[in-house]
Amino acid sequence: MTFSKIPVRKKIEELSPYVSGKPIEEVQRELGLETIVKLASNENPYGCSPLAKEAMISEMAQASFYPEGMAPSLAEKLARKLSIKQDQIILGNGSDEVIRLLTRTYIQQNDEAIMADVTFPRYETNVLIDGGTPVKIPLVNGVHDLQRMHEAITENTRMIFVCNPNNPTGTIVQKERLRAFIEKVPKHILLIVDEAYYEYVNDEDYLETLPLLHGHANLVILRTFSKIHGLAALRIGYGIMDATIIQELIKVKEPFNTNRLAQSAAFASLDDDDFVEQCARRNEEGRNYLENELTRMGLSFFPSHANFLMIKLNQPGKDVFEKLLASGVIIRPGHLLGYDDTIRVTIGTLHENEKFITSLQNAMNETASV
Ligand SMILES: Cc1ncc(COP(=O)(O)O)c(C=O)c1O
Repeated sequence: MTFSKIPVRKKIEELSPYVSGKPIEEVQRELGLETIVKLASNENPYGCSPLAKEAMISEMAQASFYPEGMAPSLAEKLARKLSIKQDQIILGNGSDEVIRLLTRTYIQQNDEAIMADVTFPRYETNVLIDGGTPVKIPLVNGVHDLQRMHEAITENTRMIFVCNPNNPTGTIVQKERLRAFIEKVPKHILLIVDEAYYEYVNDEDYLETLPLLHGHANLVILRTFSKIHGLAALRIGYGIMDATIIQELIKVKEPFNTNRLAQSAAFASLDDDDFVEQCARRNEEGRNYLENELTRMGLSFFPSHANFLMIKLNQPGKDVFEKLLASGVIIRPGHLLGYDDTIRVTIGTLHENEKFITSLQNAMNETASV
């Protein structure tokens, strides 16, 4: 009997697995270092709210019971907080899952999805998995080029992604430009605005998209508990959209996609506005510190409104990544994000930011003396 390879769907064969930020445990094992500073995945360096921790601990007693599939208590609380209806919210296993549900439901062979080049890579991957074609429009100075994105619409376009703030550049699109874009996009095309870093933005030129849901039944807003709420490990995010779209996504969703600990922690976290405000304030202080230090070092960066900075180097980001790693600092090398001569660093605590700057300085000095 001869063994031949089991045929894989062509689209899947062409894909590469997602490369995530290097986990702390992996670096500890590889380098034998005890203290690692991880600034690679835009996580919250201040952890999560104590209310969320308490809620998780108390929910553990229910671990033998399946969760409620639509997380109704959490959805209801979010709806009240955001002044929308409960049937306009779908909870996901991270907002990652909501992206997957959208492409799984709406993308088929020959369909096109417009997105920026570069942006959050899961848009492209999910479109490819579902047999569609990503249409990638280059950023201009790190910002979405909405005019070219609009010009790219064809009769095959099914969805458009706008990542605001954009990962990995941290930039936002101007308020009036985005508002005009939302008005202009034909109503049969899903317009997905990913606001994973919404709570960090403190700029008058940032568009509040929620009020536009009314009158734009094709508008989808994505948010998450992974970033400012500090619950990345629990995997819980959400999409806000017209109830008719949610009725379709539900058909595709796993029955118990968000777990009990995640639902209860997210529910409690919504009561701790002080925690969220403090994290946003400290993030801004950290960003100012890093921006000043980088400027002092003669380095430039994209103007970020999020909890990370993309720094331009005059050498491969991969080399600097390796040197930083050796000193126990994990960041994201730009080649994995579409810009070779850059690195992306998450804004950490003051101590972590100082450690990053010292290590970066050493790495740059080493290169200069070679
Ligand atoms: C822009 C953007 N959207 C979505 C996500 C996914 O977040 P979640 O943890 O909610 O799946 C991320 C995570 O880094 C992100 O940067």
